[in-house]
Amino acid sequence: MSNQEQINVGVIGAGWMGHVHARAYSRMRHHFPSGGRTPVVIAVADSVPAQVDDFVARHGVETTYSDWRDLVADPRIEAISVTAPNFLHREIGSAVAAAGKHLWIEKPVGLDAPDAEAVAAAVAKAGVVSTVGFNYRHVPAVMRARDLIRSGTIGRPTHARISLLTDYAAHPGGPLSWRYTLERGGRGILGDLASHGIDLARFLLGDLDDVVSITDTFIPQRPVVDAGSSHYSIADPNDPNVTMGEVENEDYVACLMRTLSGVSVMMESSRAAVGDQNHYVFEVHGTGGLVRWDFRRSDELDVSSGDDYSNQPTITSFSGPGDGDYLSFQPGAGIAMSYDDTKVIEAYGFMRAIAGEETDGPTILDAVASARALDAIVVSARDHAWVSIAKS
Ligand SMILES: NC(=O)c1ccc[n+]([C@@H]2O[C@H](COP(=O)([O-])OP(=O)(O)OC[C@H]3O[C@@H](n4cnc5c(N)ncnc54)[C@H](O)[C@@H]3O)[C@@H](O)[C@H]2O)c1
Repeated sequence: MSNQEQINVGVIGAGWMGHVHARAYSRMRHHFPSGGRTPVVIAVADSVPAQVDDFVARHGVETTYSDWRDLVADPRIEAISVTAPNFLHREIGSAVAAAGKHLWIEKPVGLDAPDAEAVAAAVAKAGVVSTVGFNYRHVPAVMRARDLIRSGTIGRPTHARISLLTDYAAHPGGPLSWRYTLERGGRGILGDLASHGIDLARFLLGDLDDVVSITDTFIPQRPVVDAGSSHYSIADPNDPNVTMGEVENEDYVACLMRTLSGVSVMMESSRAAVGDQNHYVFEVHGTGGLVRWDFRRSDELDVSSGDDYSNQPTITSFSGPGDGDYLSFQPGAGIAMSYDDTKVIEAYGFMRAIAGEETDGPTILDAVASARALDAIVVSARDHAWVSIAKS
């Protein structure tokens, strides 16, 4: 099989992530001229015609479907991106696998752990490749942080803090999109951002043992809007013509977790943190040092390492060749990579896995692990008690 052999791809869900996946496929060969097959998006499915039209205008696909089942049945297509809302992940993800097509599905994969497990079972039964959108793993500085932790640069990891704060839900006029309902969004900030936090914790520190948590909802009602509206659009909640609906999931979570290796991890996540936009940070302390990363300065890594214990300096350095896939994007340190670049790396991992290569990219099993941790967080918040993740 030639490296350059084309593989036809379809995208289901032409929203934000649908566009990001399509751009990632089309850019993949710009950065990775060999390895895997060359993906070409030939079809898109979305239930909202305006979304399809916009996707076609930007990505030039010729085949469009209003029903995702027709895209899954298209015999030309071998791999499918599922970038539809969470409530559709279980049905669509399972159908894609059952049709024998490789699956790149967005996190969190469904509404809860049973949904993720159902998709995982379909993937295992069909023997297809799966990739899940835990893209922060692919940031070169995050890859370096993991390598430093594994090689003992900070000593034995002892405690960590993961914070994922943003403000897209801070405005009371933000519409009641699928994200705010149990039936369509499932979890609130848990599925949206905390799922990434769980994955980062596992990626850096290994599997989780148990958790105790609290959750809160700060804005209990939001304006009802048409399907397909962006979750960044704003309505006036005081307008008498605006119908308000109930928010059914959490805006906020705080939890304390322990890993199986005994590291304490504090995680806090909010979608209603006024003044904080996409502010994702982790800090891992060890017996001899520290690594700290901030998504908004995603090429930088703060590292403290040595024998000083007290008054030991922390040094900030830029990512460069040798850190993850940095060299496939830029020739020398100090040139910032972007969010979209992480998806290009993810697309490449998907293509390499389809070609039978070993990769350490996130699979459906990582989505199951994340979803089980999220379910445990929900139970802990409800019962005001420590809950086992490892035994769930
Ligand atoms: N990895 C990340 O960093 C990241 C970031 C954002 C979103 N996501 C995930 O991506 C998924 C999509 O999120 P988004 O922000 O792109 O949402 P979005 O609302 O922008 O897009 C969802 C699209 O799915 C379409 N859709 C709805 N019902 C459909 C159906 N029956 N068939 C086909 N299409 C349908 C909608 O019309 C819309 O175009 C979610 O699961 C979300 O958790 C991941």
